[in-house]
Amino acid sequence: MTSRSGTNERRIQALRDLIAYHNHRYYDLDQPEITDVEYDALVDELQRLEREHPLDGPKESVIEQVGGQVSPEMGIVSFSPPVLSLNNVHNLDELKEFYLRVAQGLGEQSPHFTGELKIDGLSVVIRYQKGRMVQAATRGDGLRGEDVTANVERIRPIPSMLSQPVSMEIRGEVYMSRSAFVALNARRKEEGKAVFANPRNAAAGSLRQLDPEVTASRELSAFFYQIRRIEPQDAAVAHITTQYRTLEFFRELSLPVEEHFRYCETLDDIDDYVREWENQRDSLDYDTDGLVIKLNDLATQVRLGETQKAPRWAVAYKFPPEEVLTEVVGIEISVGRTGVLTPTAILKPVLVAGTTVSRASLHNEDILREKDVRVGDFVFIRKAGEIIPEVVRVEKTLRPDNTTPFQFPSQCPACGSTVVRLPQEAAYRCTGGMACSAQLREAVIHFASRDAMDIEGLGEKTVDLLLEAGRVKRVDDIYRLKEDDLLALSRFGRLSAAKLVQSIERSKSQPLHRLIFALGMRFVGQRVAFVLAERYRTMKALEEASYEDLVSIPDVGERIANSVRTFLSEPLNQEVIQSLKKMGVNMNHLETTLAGEERAEDKVLEGQSIVVTGTFHVMPRKNLESWIAELGGRVVSSVSSRTDLVLAGEKPGSKLQKAQTMNVPIVFEQEFFERMAKEGLTPPTG
Ligand code: IVH
Repeated sequence: MTSRSGTNERRIQALRDLIAYHNHRYYDLDQPEITDVEYDALVDELQRLEREHPLDGPKESVIEQVGGQVSPEMGIVSFSPPVLSLNNVHNLDELKEFYLRVAQGLGEQSPHFTGELKIDGLSVVIRYQKGRMVQAATRGDGLRGEDVTANVERIRPIPSMLSQPVSMEIRGEVYMSRSAFVALNARRKEEGKAVFANPRNAAAGSLRQLDPEVTASRELSAFFYQIRRIEPQDAAVAHITTQYRTLEFFRELSLPVEEHFRYCETLDDIDDYVREWENQRDSLDYDTDGLVIKLNDLATQVRLGETQKAPRWAVAYKFPPEEVLTEVVGIEISVGRTGVLTPTAILKPVLVAGTTVSRASLHNEDILREKDVRVGDFVFIRKAGEIIPEVVRVEKTLRPDNTTPFQFPSQCPACGSTVVRLPQEAAYRCTGGMACSAQLREAVIHFASRDAMDIEGLGEKTVDLLLEAGRVKRVDDIYRLKEDDLLALSRFGRLSAAKLVQSIERSKSQPLHRLIFALGMRFVGQRVAFVLAERYRTMKALEEASYEDLVSIPDVGERIANSVRTFLSEPLNQEVIQSLKKMGVNMNHLETTLAGEERAEDKVLEGQSIVVTGTFHVMPRKNLESWIAELGGRVVSSVSSRTDLVLAGEKPGSKLQKAQTMNVPIVFEQEFFERMAKEGLTPPTG
């Protein structure tokens, strides 16, 4: 029987794990998965449960841990006192509670406050000695941060030398402006590099760099807001007695300060400040996620003190997630690889949380109907998880008179075939199959993609040209392409045509699981493709497998078995498979290939450029590198945007950090050997 307290305990544990996980994504990886509001909701629930059901065991909840881990690559700076976080409120009532709590804590005195914008960047602590910057650190876990002095010195708006020779430790926020973020991402996109999700991640990724040159090349800025410590003898700093004066003093020292701070004498003043900025923050060129309300008098701050995590004298008023109004100028239907029709709202471009948004998925007909989005409507757009734009709702009061509900087409917009909606599915599907140009396009792109047949050089643009020229009507046509066919297309010269023909030829020896995946059967992803290849070993055996046999495989359910059978009994698909076989495409699973021949499948790392870092247990690094080369991989010494993989052992070097910031996939030793074992490959001994 599950007891009530058992349920609570489990929930508390689950919340702690979840929050620790999201802390790690946010602070360590700079890759948040949930919005601040969602995060705060988890923390609120955990706080409530921990209060109501105190558990035995470690007293320190994850909530008390204010930040993330520090990277072992960078020098470590210890903080005293700890670098605290803030408690959050989400509405004016909660803000009033904070105000009353402070007033009560102070007895008869009525408190005065300073309001500031809360910049969405990352906290830094800087030490100045006699006016010179001597150390800068990230917040890390609040007790220890990363030494980023060399990087901060290269951030232009942060003075290395103050205009007065003061000695103090201060705190502020490093951020990237929206315009710098947009420009940086545009540049990265052009260079084929991963783009940053938002300005905060871009700032964090740019500051937490081992190479200060990288930081210098990114346009970072900062605002400062707190004196953490002063040298006792520093009279110039000692006479600063309020938060308001602190900010003015910073300005005098030529330290950048967010200029919209305000002295608030009463609760009404605070409310006004909140209301004003809730509407105005879009006009700024930097992201703000709230306001910070601080008790103005510094000596009174000390009287109130702090908890382990946050001061009692300040609070963060968090803004609701940003929603922006824009006009729907069209609704477009796109057709995916499996024929699914997806409606997308085409929007008048608008800036949402730092990026320009001009499209938002409407997912399917049900959602489109429920939201009743029409061309001509004004809609609120929000970034789901701060990343993917979505339509929140239509502003019906602004609807023009002449709009009509959107009619889902009964014919495919790409090929004109009938569109059907299968029972129990929200999606409409085009019945045109390979005869549908849109499906064919997606199918060919998928077939050639990196995880499928990995045909380098056969990307979207080339596929479009081949389809337009009528050179590819089914996926097997890829193997009929000659250099001359490619030369007839606008983007090819002799060299590139020869290269593509070569990589098409090479792809013929891909192992069976890749081919199964490449064929694009519904519900057959990479993992299921591998399971099928393991089980049947040849394409022929898979073609002959019955539905009963398929469902008897542990990882294969009815849905997958049905899909595989339907696909393989379709005459057109059978024809394609036969034709692939005739043209020499491998139909065998890994070690089923004839013994004695060099097994092309062994080249599982073919064409991949791999960086190896750290020390390894299974074999010395040198031997490991030779093995990678035997498997077709290219071992390179430094991480760049062209690196496919970083293989990390123990005590990995700065390369690991670089890979993280550049979004290059990373595998650790154990996982790498497991992956190889799955391919039937074990490292050579001796
Ligand atoms: S005061 C003890 N003021 O918000 C002082 N923080 O969610 C606590 N932040 O970790 C911080 N702008 O990184 C303060 N004007 C501001 C701020 C600010 C941004 C950040 C800071 C803090 C986080 C708390």
